Formats: sequence, C-alpha cells, structure tokens
Amino acid sequence: MGICRITDTSLANLATCGEVINVVQCFFDPLRSFPIGQTQGVKSPFEPVSFLRGPAMPNRFMLAPLTNQQSHDDGTLSAEEHRWLTMRAHGGFGMTMTAAAHVQEIGRAFPGQLGICRDDQIPALAKMADEIRSTGSIAIVQLHHGGNRVPEALNNMTPVCPSDDPDTGARALSNAEVHQLRDDFIAAAVRAEKAGYDGVQLHGAHGYIICQFLSSDINHRTDEYGGSLENRARLLVEIIAGIRAQCADHFHLSVRLSPERFGMVMNEIIEVYGWLVDSGQVDFIDMSLWDSFKEPNEDEHKGRSLMEIFAELPRGEVRLGVAGKIHEPADVQRVLDAGVDIAILGRVAILHHDYPNLLRNDAGFAPRHIPVSAQTLAEEGLSDTFITYMSTWKGFVSD
Ligand SMILES: Cc1cc2nc3c(=O)[nH]c(=O)nc-3n(C[C@H](O)[C@H](O)[C@H](O)COP(=O)(O)O)c2cc1C
Repeated sequence: MGICRITDTSLANLATCGEVINVVQCFFDPLRSFPIGQTQGVKSPFEPVSFLRGPAMPNRFMLAPLTNQQSHDDGTLSAEEHRWLTMRAHGGFGMTMTAAAHVQEIGRAFPGQLGICRDDQIPALAKMADEIRSTGSIAIVQLHHGGNRVPEALNNMTPVCPSDDPDTGARALSNAEVHQLRDDFIAAAVRAEKAGYDGVQLHGAHGYIICQFLSSDINHRTDEYGGSLENRARLLVEIIAGIRAQCADHFHLSVRLSPERFGMVMNEIIEVYGWLVDSGQVDFIDMSLWDSFKEPNEDEHKGRSLMEIFAELPRGEVRLGVAGKIHEPADVQRVLDAGVDIAILGRVAILHHDYPNLLRNDAGFAPRHIPVSAQTLAEEGLSDTFITYMSTWKGFVSD
C-alpha cells in the first residue's frame, strides 16, 4: 500500500472493528508517500481557506484555545465564558476554538475548566455553537485530558499517566483504562457534534496526556501503547480513527502538537506530522510553537524558524496553523508568507476581541501591548475570574 488516503465515503462505511484497525494501520505504512501540492503562501489574511471536511474558514484568523477558568465547577459552560468566546466570533475570527475541555473528570487540570465528559454539558455548549456559527466563524471544541499535570487536590483523585510518575505522584493507566481513555475522547467528539460544533481539536501538545503518551521520557509502557514511536502514537491514532468512524463525514478534525519541550523530540514530531498528513483523516494540524519565529532548540534543526520547518513539510490538502508570538499584523503576514495557512492568535486575541475586524477596517491597525489594565480586559469581555487568572501570567495585567 502506498498513499493511504481515506475518502469521506470510505469513512462513512467504516462499520466493523476490523475496518477501524485497517484505518489505524494506514498511519504506520512504511511505504507511504506524501501527497504533494501544499498551499503556497497567500497574500491576504482575509482570503478564505477550505478544508478536506466541513465548512471553509472565511479568513486566516483562528482564536487559539485559551483556558479561562470561567466554567462552572461541574464543567458546564457559564454565561461569562459564552460571552468571552462569542465576542471573538463576532469580532471576525474565522475559527473560534474553545479552551481545553476535559473528556474525563480525572483529566480536569484547572479550576473552572470547561468539560465535555457528560451529556448534561451539551445544552450550554450547543447554545454557544449556534451563536458562533451564526457569525460565519467555524466552531470547534478542543478535547483535553491533563494526565500527570492534574493537581491531585483538584479532583480528589490520584492523577493518571502512561506510566507511574514519581515526580507528580501520578499512577500508570492499565491497558483497559487506556482503551477507556480513547473511548472517552471519541465520546466527547460525538458530544461536540451533537452540540452542533463543526469539529474538534485533539490537544496533543503542552505535556498533557496525548503528549505524555508520545514522550519516551514519560511513557515507559511495555504494552502496545509504549516503546516505539508507532506504539506511543497509537492512542492518538486510535482516537482519530474512532472519531472518523463515529462522527459524520463532514466533521472537521484537527490535532495540536508541540514540536519541542514537554519531552518531545523534533524528528519524532515531524514523523507523526507525516503520518497525520498521509492518513488523510485529519483536516488541520495546529503547531503550538510559543514563538513561531524562533529557531528550534535542537542543534540539528537550527538555521530555520520553527514555523518554516513545518511550513516546508509536504501536507497535501491538510491545513497548517501556527501559534506563538503572532502579535502585529506584520507577524500575521509573515506567517502566511512562509506558507502557513492559518495564523493562530492567543494573547493578542485576549487584548482585542475583534482583531480581524479592526485590521480589515484599518490596514494601519496597531494592537495594544501588555501590561493592560483590568478595566481594558473587562471591556474586552473577560470576567473578574479570567482577569484574576491572567494576573498569574507575568506582566499581563497592570497593577
Ligand atoms: C491564558 C492562556 C490559556 C491557554 N490555554 C490553552 C488551552 O486551553 N489549550 C491550548 O492548547 N493552549 C492554550 N494556551 C496556549 C495558546 O493557545 C497559544 O498557543 C499560546 O498562548 C501562544 O500564542 P500567543 O503567543 O499568541 O499567546 C493558552 C495560553 C494562554 C496565554
């Protein structure tokens, strides 16, 4: 088998377990060849971008997933979080992504974290999906599990991890629990679809559970989920295959990855990126770089910026977004000129709920810089809880 591109139709026909296993095997085909013809640099951030599945984005601006601690204790979406996110959709972001939403109670990593682990969380999520989509923005839920980064006291449960982790006190998941974890990610995607979202993103970055599985530093398992990179990526691959089997053909699916830090090795992430592209099952890859313009830490990869390295990899019709220090309009343009499809804005989108609209109406738009006052943040739609959380980000909120 060479190129293993799965069509929407063939995915719709996935009926048996055996077929799902075949989909999973496509990721690891050693003879695969990368599709060519990736998107060339675009001139304007206001050009739409289409995906293999689901609606097109009306422009190249994505709201980064931003934990804001505004959800209720039981993980249901609050009016404050609804307002904060829908303001960004109304402000012109072509894709509006929720904060990381936990798929299991034990995976809740922050107080006030959004949840998508129970059906009673669907109605509030559905109301928000409706409003986001009414603006023309694509509505996406980021699916997350904190793994060993969950503070024990938060959920009164011993946190879990691919392997026993003396540093954090997290315990290893059993093989059956890994299957349950996979199934709960898939169930969360099904919930997001029921709630009317255009798709989901799997949070495979920043040292959370999918990233922990990918890391040979953290994952010392001896079953089929540990050892080789292929085994360490198995959880991610099986979640993707399950979502493709259980959600509609047009359901948009993306993966967020970290290329370095958090126990990641650049060459391994490049390999995983290639598997995701070549599987044809993922519509969009979000590289979380923290600084899109810096050189990698690993000597072997120095000489080009992180974003250039990923922009230059073959990706066929899969879209690439990068996040990290995209602040000025010139930064957005630089990212697009490098051949990246989507500029992902985090902190500057906290400062301006309507960054895309401001830029569209004024080519000379100059965004604010930190620190900013609590009053400014309140005007940008942050509740007191979120402002307090942002005060823990050094230099963000002025005294
Ligand atoms: C307050 C805050 C909360 C964040 N929460 C998340 C999150 O829930 N999920 C995630 O993948 N990244 C999260 N990130 C990372 C951002 O999505 C983004 O990648 C990062 O802030 C770099 O982009 P920026 O330089 O534009 O802020 C968070 C960042 C900040 C500042």
